[in-house]
Amino acid sequence: MPAVGIRELANLSMVIARGELLRYARGKDGYTARFEDRLARLIGVRHVLTVNSGSNALITAMAAAGIGPGDEVLVPAYTWVATALAPLAVGAVPVLVNIDASLTIDPQDIERQITPFTKAIVPVHMQNVVCDMDAIMAIARRHKLLVIEDACQAVGLRYKGRRVGGIGDLGVFSFNHHKNITAGEGGAVLTNDDRYFERARMFHDPGAFIRQHAPTDEPLFSGLNCRVSELTGAVLHAQLGRLDPLLKTLHARYPGVADLFAGRPHCRPSPHHSPEDAVALSVLFDDPEEARIFGQTRGAGRLIDTGRHVFTNWEAVLCKRSFHERMNPHQWAHRDITYRVEDYQATLDILSRTCRVSLGAQYPAPVMLLQKRTLRAAIARLSAQRDGAPA
Ligand SMILES: Cc1ncc(COP(=O)(O)O)c(C=O)c1O
Repeated sequence: MPAVGIRELANLSMVIARGELLRYARGKDGYTARFEDRLARLIGVRHVLTVNSGSNALITAMAAAGIGPGDEVLVPAYTWVATALAPLAVGAVPVLVNIDASLTIDPQDIERQITPFTKAIVPVHMQNVVCDMDAIMAIARRHKLLVIEDACQAVGLRYKGRRVGGIGDLGVFSFNHHKNITAGEGGAVLTNDDRYFERARMFHDPGAFIRQHAPTDEPLFSGLNCRVSELTGAVLHAQLGRLDPLLKTLHARYPGVADLFAGRPHCRPSPHHSPEDAVALSVLFDDPEEARIFGQTRGAGRLIDTGRHVFTNWEAVLCKRSFHERMNPHQWAHRDITYRVEDYQATLDILSRTCRVSLGAQYPAPVMLLQKRTLRAAIARLSAQRDGAPA
């Protein structure tokens, strides 16, 4: 959970003192507009649009890209449920893809799931771990598919030196309470494409074009209200200054914690697609039972036990249930999409054997030392049990 403090309070006080809570009130000088500008420069994209959640950022990105009825969207079987719900919100259907040991979408399984109806791939940078973007972009270009990066759990992360969210055709961030930077709730859509940006703005706020008198050639279409208030922008503007220091701390702590698992063949750090940029650690066990026991250690957790991040808990998706039967996107799909648990055993197997290990983003150094001692003891206990010696 990120730090929030005096800088956020100062910005909020300013907004309240001015009484200008609408994000457009001060135009380009508003906190929200300045946050978008700074975030665009940090990530290296032309456009950033702040919206009121990561879920709505995904939906806005899909609407902006023209995804709709009859389209299939590839999403990993391990992600927050919102990734799979977003295609349904625009009339398309999600097709699940297995993850690999890196905890991210498996490029080989992407290839297997592509059909003539596939429109987009949504790689999800889960748990501050980046996807195999080179492989994914190559597949997308070969099959002429869009890539919408779900970087909700990976704001600011680098993949081979580039910041994620700016690599695909569009990217999305979440700023909810658990993310790298937060305003309690919030999200963003990122793109280098001027037209997608115009369409995203149009979709996220039916009033945006009236208020801003922004020139556009794009014919006006119906959208939703996913607009943020200037209170959100004020907090995010302050939070952005905390992002790189946070990632630096996590990166510096990574080797010290990863080394605890060195020389232990039955549990090892999960493979990483950009190890030189790693800011999060998870550990793959040979034995799911050992992962279960280790997952009970303070600062660790087994991934199969993380509720709606695991596709087996996405009831509405699996049952193809919509708020209104005639609005159910599956009736517009060109084929029957199946969500059989047996097709995603690879994902369940990896999740049942993997534990995340906290790098203590907000722990002071002495607490981190204690945390490492706790982890070391847990690893030693497991090794002793393996060797048949008393724990
Ligand atoms: C991978 C992923 N995608 C999308 C979302 C949705 O973000 P929000 O909670 O801001 O709607 C989340 C949030 O937890 C997420 O982790």
